[in-house]
Amino acid sequence: MSFIHEAILTTPMPEGTTHIAPLGFRHEDGLVVLAPFHPSRTLEHLRAFGQAAISHTDDVRVYAGCLTGRRDWPVLPCEQVRCGRLADALSHHELQVERVDDGDPQRPRFFCRELAVTMHRPFPGFNRAQAAVIEACILVSRLHLLPAERLAHEIDGLGIAVDKTAGEREREAWTWLMQRIAAYRAQHDAAETTL
Ligand SMILES: Cc1cc2nc3c(=O)[nH]c(=O)nc-3n(C[C@H](O)[C@H](O)[C@H](O)COP(=O)(O)O)c2cc1C
Repeated sequence: MSFIHEAILTTPMPEGTTHIAPLGFRHEDGLVVLAPFHPSRTLEHLRAFGQAAISHTDDVRVYAGCLTGRRDWPVLPCEQVRCGRLADALSHHELQVERVDDGDPQRPRFFCRELAVTMHRPFPGFNRAQAAVIEACILVSRLHLLPAERLAHEIDGLGIAVDKTAGEREREAWTWLMQRIAAYRAQHDAAETTL
């Protein structure tokens, strides 16, 4: 199994602005490997511009926000690539695509060289509520695949960490995700009753 980090990936958009999306990445032979699914704007931008930035943030609202229609997070320009990076990043990495492996057309792999790595603030340490929010983001991104009972069970477990260890930002992120799940369930249940 490969060791995967979760981060906020920013990519250049044709109109000169910056696209934001949570994305996993891993390392292979000194390169950063990105594997965005087809179709996605992240994939289109990587193909079109061959550049991106990774931002590490402890503000999990950015993750939850991207999954719930809140993508407008402040960015600052990168130095060597043509997109922005999160303004509130603990650190960011500027990436140049070196080669693309199209072996899996549904999930091409972009092998990227790090042009720059910049530290902005120290890592404040792990927080269980933040980890729970990231896990809940993954669940929300797979709502259409998850049986309702399994989803409810997993959310109950993650909610314990949020209750015990969250600060205001984590609670806000959690609320957005729970609203998204409730809206999905309401829509899904309504569709079932009309069958
Ligand atoms: C923590 C986390 C990790 C993710 N990792 C990936 C990934 O590695 N590849 C991918 O295609 N989508 C991943 N996603 C889902 C993307 O963020 C989502 O598909 C996003 O909307 C990309 O689509 P877009 O580029 O069209 O905005 C992840 C989501 C989360 C919350």
